[in-house]
Amino acid sequence: MAEVLAVAFPDIADTPQTRVLECIEVRSETADVKTFRFRDTHPDGALRFIAGQAALLSLDIDGARVERTFSIASSPMRSGGRANACATLDFTIKVKQGSRAARWLHDTLAPGMRIGARYPLGHFHLDALPAAPLALVSAGSGASPLMAMLRTLAAHAPDTDVVWLHAARSAADILFAGELAALQAVMPRLQAIVTLSAPAPGWFGVRGRLSRRTVSALVPDFATRAVYCCGPASFMAGLERIHAAEGTRRAPFHIEHFGPATPDVTPLAPPPDAVSSADVWHATLGARRFGVRDGETVLAAASRQQVVIPCGCASGMCGTCKLRCRSGDVVMQHAGGLSAQDEAGGWILACSSRLRSDVELDF
Ligand code: FES
Repeated sequence: MAEVLAVAFPDIADTPQTRVLECIEVRSETADVKTFRFRDTHPDGALRFIAGQAALLSLDIDGARVERTFSIASSPMRSGGRANACATLDFTIKVKQGSRAARWLHDTLAPGMRIGARYPLGHFHLDALPAAPLALVSAGSGASPLMAMLRTLAAHAPDTDVVWLHAARSAADILFAGELAALQAVMPRLQAIVTLSAPAPGWFGVRGRLSRRTVSALVPDFATRAVYCCGPASFMAGLERIHAAEGTRRAPFHIEHFGPATPDVTPLAPPPDAVSSADVWHATLGARRFGVRDGETVLAAASRQQVVIPCGCASGMCGTCKLRCRSGDVVMQHAGGLSAQDEAGGWILACSSRLRSDVELDF
C-alpha cells in the first residue's frame, strides 16, 4: 500500500514554468461557477503538479495584463499511478464582485483561445502518505483544490477515510454534487456532508454556518483528522480554532490562503525603470531594475513600480512569489511558504523579504 501511495503522490512537482494553455472546454457548474479545461500547448505536455497546487493565469484584458492565482481542480494523476505528462488542467472558478480575471474568464474565454500560465505553485497539497484520516473542508469555490485531492485519492487510494465537509449558500450553489455521489460508489469510507447557510424550503439536510457544536456533531473525530481547508479567511480561521479546541492530540491543519496583495493589472508595456531618491536598495529581476525602500518588501516595491511578480497570499504562506536570489543580502520572515531545502538553495519569498543590499533576482 505504501509503495502505491508513494507513486500516487510524488513529493516532487516540477519547478514552476511559464506555459501557454489552450482552452478546450467550458462547463457551467452553478449560476456563478464555471469549470475551464485547458491543455498545455508545450510539446512535452503538462508539468507535473501535486493535487491541491495552483497556477497563476495571465490574461490580456483591454490592453492590460491581469494576473490571478487559481487552484487546479483536476487530478494530476492518470490511471496507473504515473504523474500525468499530458493531463488536462481544470479550473473551477466563481465570479466574485471585483474579480476582473474571473469576470473575463466567464464572459469571454471560449474553446480554442489561449492564455499564459505559470505553474505549479503553492504548498497546499496532499502529503505523500496521508498518515491520518482526512477532512476536506471548503466553502464555496474553495472546494476546487480539495476536489483535485479527492479525485486523486479516488483513483489511487480509494480506501482512504475521508470526510468531505462543504458549506454553500443554497442547494443550487453546491459544487460537484453529482461527482461526489459517483465517488462515494468507489470510496467506501468517503462521507460527504453539505451545510447550507440560506436553504430554500424543502431542504432537509444540515443548515447554518459551521460552529464548534455543528462540527463536533457531524464529525466527532474532527481533531484527529488531518484537515485541508479552503475558503474565505474568516471561515478557515474559525475551522482551525474548532480543530484546536476539539482535542489535544491534533492532526495537521492545512489551509489554502489566497488574498489580494498587489494590483492585478499591469500595463502590457511597462514604464521605463524608475528609481527615486527614497529608494535605498536596487533589485534586478530579469530585464527590470527597481528601487526598494528601507523596510519595504520586495513584492511591495515591485508592485509599486509595475514589475510583475506572481503573488497569492502576500503573507509568506503559499509560496507563489518564490524567487531565486543570485546575489545580495536579504532578511526573510515567512510563514511556511518555503521549504528549508529551498531556503538553503537561495530561494526567497518576495512578499516576506526585505533587503540589506542591492540584489539580483530571477524566477
Ligand atoms: S505570495 Fe504567498 S508566499 Fe508570497
